[in-house]
Amino acid sequence: MRYLLTFLLMFNTLFANDKVHTFASSSECMACHPAIYEEFSSSMHANATPQKDPIHNAVWDKHPQKNKKEQYGCGKCHTPAADDLDHMLTQGKKALPKIDNATHQEGISCAYCHRIESIELHAKSNTNIIAKNDRAYFGTKKEHIDSPFHGIITEGNEHMQNGNVCIGCHSHKMNNHKLNVCSTNIDNTMDGANCVSCHMPKVTGSVSVMNETKEHTFHGFAGSHFHSDMLQNYVDISLLREIDDFIVNIDNRTSHALLLHPLRTAVLKVSIYRNGEKINLKDEIFVRVIGHEGKPAMPWAATTTLKDTMIQANEKRSVLYNFKLQKGDEVNVTLGWYLVNPKALKMLKLENEDVATKFTEFKKESFSF
Ligand code: HEC
Ligand code: HEC
Ligand code: HEC
Ligand code: HEC
Ligand code: HEC
Repeated sequence: MRYLLTFLLMFNTLFANDKVHTFASSSECMACHPAIYEEFSSSMHANATPQKDPIHNAVWDKHPQKNKKEQYGCGKCHTPAADDLDHMLTQGKKALPKIDNATHQEGISCAYCHRIESIELHAKSNTNIIAKNDRAYFGTKKEHIDSPFHGIITEGNEHMQNGNVCIGCHSHKMNNHKLNVCSTNIDNTMDGANCVSCHMPKVTGSVSVMNETKEHTFHGFAGSHFHSDMLQNYVDISLLREIDDFIVNIDNRTSHALLLHPLRTAVLKVSIYRNGEKINLKDEIFVRVIGHEGKPAMPWAATTTLKDTMIQANEKRSVLYNFKLQKGDEVNVTLGWYLVNPKALKMLKLENEDVATKFTEFKKESFSF
């Protein structure tokens, strides 16, 4: 009897662990959801691991958890489908993301995201609560056929539609010094727009091969790495000519700052074509620099925000150019970014990584006088 009791207790603790779940692999969705699968595969969610994302890897490489503790706290958001996630998040367990463990390399997988049942709010970072049923997925389509592979839950899960499904990982991340390293405005309702409606618009192509539909929800997650053209319309650029100078206005109609991660650097480039010649004006830089004792520091070491010129949520930023325009001038304005602040490239050993050094042109406008 005693043996049975111990056995039952062990059995219980084994399954009482809320942090470990098994998820169907994303590749299992491919056969029936090929369009969605293809978009997802090239998104940052599928590539959020140190082995697949050189920028994440470069920062992780410097992290004291990697070098001293062999603990991967990042896994909570970067490899949430890992079969040993609880160990990754526990000091002393020595569990790092591995290239040969498929569950580590899934990133933020299809089944993981579609099993987020609710979000627990916490000061340091929120936590996703995962539904126990591993073969029933939350969806939003009011009319759908049944799937032979999985159940579909479309009742009582507004979070899939209102964007709350995203805030378990995206709302904020606070370090041990109580500094918010990164934060997205979670009050994300703006003229009915939210994380999902802006970042996952409807595009042509069927939801599944079993039931032909005209459109599906875009799963390439438009953002600063990929598909930023899909978000262009949320930022307007206009020009105001004055007698001795001119002003470029940037109207950010987004519910969060133009860029969020502190590694980013946005740049406004302005040039003027006059009599066949190109005149470049000085670049305007938008950054949020975090640091310690007056110097820039890594996210875990930073204690304060040293400088914040990033264009904020719903902000209209005006940049003045002391340049007198004349008839016949053409002003070319480009707003774009570097994913990694050029000043941090060397320290992160990213000088030769295209993704870190290239300039992304987000929006271009031309004004003729
Ligand atoms: C609370 C969730 C969460 C945790 C924990 C977390 N991250 Fe992230 N991380 C994110 C999100 C969300 C993004 C996307 C932010 C963006 O693009 O603005 C991101 C993006 C990044 C990026 C930018 C990647 C790129 O390709 O540009 C780096 C670098 C990064 N994280 C490093 C880390 C490291 C290192 C750890 C662990 C020490 C970590 N993160 C832990 C949520 C998290
Ligand atoms: C054997 C085919 C098949 C496979 C494999 C499959 N699905 Fe589906 N799935 C369907 C069908 C059919 C629908 C209903 C489509 C419709 O009515 O337009 C569906 C619908 C969905 C929905 C939408 C629910 C809604 O109504 O909004 C989600 C979410 C979903 N699948 C997720 C997944 C995930 C995640 C995987 C992989 C782990 C997967 N599916 C694998 C056939 C499949
Ligand atoms: C389990 C955590 C998690 C959830 C849930 C999540 N994300 Fe992410 N997301 C991340 C991480 C981590 C990254 C950064 C990956 C990297 O760059 O390595 C990211 C990156 C992104 C990016 C940047 C893409 C780019 O091109 O730079 C966008 C946009 C995004 N997520 C939107 C969303 C939306 C919309 C939702 C909700 C439907 C969502 N995310 C849910 C963790 C999450
Ligand atoms: C009104 C539309 C809109 C809404 C609502 C919105 N975004 Fe964005 N988001 C944008 C635009 C515009 C950008 C900047 C362009 C880009 O990165 O491609 C952006 C950029 C991002 C990035 C990349 C930032 C970086 O530093 O790399 C992430 C991650 C992101 N959004 C996540 C979210 C999440 C999570 C929500 C909901 C809490 C959300 N967004 C709500 C429009 C929106
Ligand atoms: C980061 C979270 C996230 C990931 C990862 C994700 N989805 Fe979704 N998915 C959503 C959200 C949110 C919706 C609802 C969108 C809406 O209501 O507009 C959705 C909608 C769907 C639908 C409903 C049909 C449609 O197009 O509207 C299907 C099917 C689906 N996802 C399948 C998948 C498959 C398959 C994968 C992986 C290849 C995947 N999802 C990965 C968040 C995610």
